[in-house]
Amino acid sequence: MSRQKQTLGEFIIENQSAFQYSSGELSSLLNSIRLAAKVVNHEVNKAGLVDIIGAAGDTNIQGEDQQKLDVYANEKFIQTMTKRNIVCGIASEEEDDFIAINSQDENNGNKYVVLIDPLDGSSNIDVNVSVGTIFSIYRRVTPVGTPVKIEDFLQKGSEQVAAGYVVYGTSTMIVYTTGAGVNGFTLNPAIGSFYLSHPDMVFPEDGHIYSVNEGNYIHFPQGIKNYIKYCQQEEGDRPYTSRYIGSLVSDFHRNMIKGGIYLYPQSSKNPKGKLRLLYECNPIAFLAEQANGKSSDGFTRTLDVQPTELHERVPFICGSKNMVEKAEAFMREAHGE
Ligand code: AHG
Ligand code: MN
Ligand code: MN
Repeated sequence: MSRQKQTLGEFIIENQSAFQYSSGELSSLLNSIRLAAKVVNHEVNKAGLVDIIGAAGDTNIQGEDQQKLDVYANEKFIQTMTKRNIVCGIASEEEDDFIAINSQDENNGNKYVVLIDPLDGSSNIDVNVSVGTIFSIYRRVTPVGTPVKIEDFLQKGSEQVAAGYVVYGTSTMIVYTTGAGVNGFTLNPAIGSFYLSHPDMVFPEDGHIYSVNEGNYIHFPQGIKNYIKYCQQEEGDRPYTSRYIGSLVSDFHRNMIKGGIYLYPQSSKNPKGKLRLLYECNPIAFLAEQANGKSSDGFTRTLDVQPTELHERVPFICGSKNMVEKAEAFMREAHGE
C-alpha cells in the first residue's frame, strides 16, 4: 500500500512488530488516544459557538453543565484510556495527584502509565488560535498486579516508550514516536480518519525562527538575553525571525517543519521556568531527539533530568540541533564556564 494513503490505524498495526515489547497493548493504547483526539477535536472546533451553545459554567438545553474545554479534554482522554485494560495509572496537568486504575484488582496486568497535558495553550481557545494535547507513555517500574506508585510516574524522560501530541490547528494532526522516528498524521474530517501525511519528520539542523515570550526579557538570565541579541543581530543569515504562538505544541510543530528554536527559560519571576517536565517538556524532548533535534535546560539534557514531583517545572530550550547548541554555549559563557 502506498504510504501516503495509510491511515493511522493501519500504521499502528503495521509498525507494532518493530516495537521491542510488542504485545499489541501499546497499539491499543495509541488507538485509544487516536479516538479521544477525534472526540476532543470535535468539541474544540465548536469553541467559537460559545455564545450560541453556552459558556463554561452555564447549563445547556439538556440540563448538562457546560465545561471548560481543558476539563472536557481531561475527562475524555482519561475515560477513553481507562476503558481499555492497558493503563494502570494516569497523571494529568488537570489533576493534583495521579489516578490509579483498577488498583484493587490483583489480576490487573496493565503495564503502562500515561502522563498528559489534555489541552495545551488553552488561553488561545477564546481567540481561535491552535491548541494541542501532549502525551507521554512509560512502562511501570513497580510489579504488574500491584497498585501503581508515584515512582512509576517519576521516571527520567529517557525511559519513555512513546510520546506525541495532537495539534488542533488549521487541520488536526497527531504526531508521535515510539522511539523509531517521528510520523505525523492529518485528520480528514469528512471521513474521520487520520492519514500519514508527514512520514519521518526531521528538524532541519539549522533554522531561522526563534520562539520565546520576549515580554519576560528583563527577567531572563544573562545567557538567554545574550542569545536573543545574537538572534537579532545583522550578520550572516541573521537576524532570525521571531514567531511565538503561546501554544507549545504549535510552536514546536512549526519549528520542527521549518527549523527553529523554542525557549521557555527560568526567570526572576519563575525561577524554574514555567513548563512542566513530565507532561510538556519530556514528551516534546523525546520527539525532538527522535527528529534529530535537541532539548535541554541550557546545561542538562531534558531527558536526563530525574523528576522529583509530578508537576515540577524546568527551563526548556528545544529545537534545531545547531540552534540549541548555540543557546547552550551562551548559557555556559554567561555562567563563566
Ligand atoms: P497550558 O495551556 O497547558 O497551561 O500551557 C501553556 C504553556 C505553553 O503551551 C505555552 O508555550 C506557554 O504556556 C505560554 O506561556 P506564556 O503565556 O507565559 O508565554
Ligand atoms: Mn501546557
Ligand atoms: Mn494544559
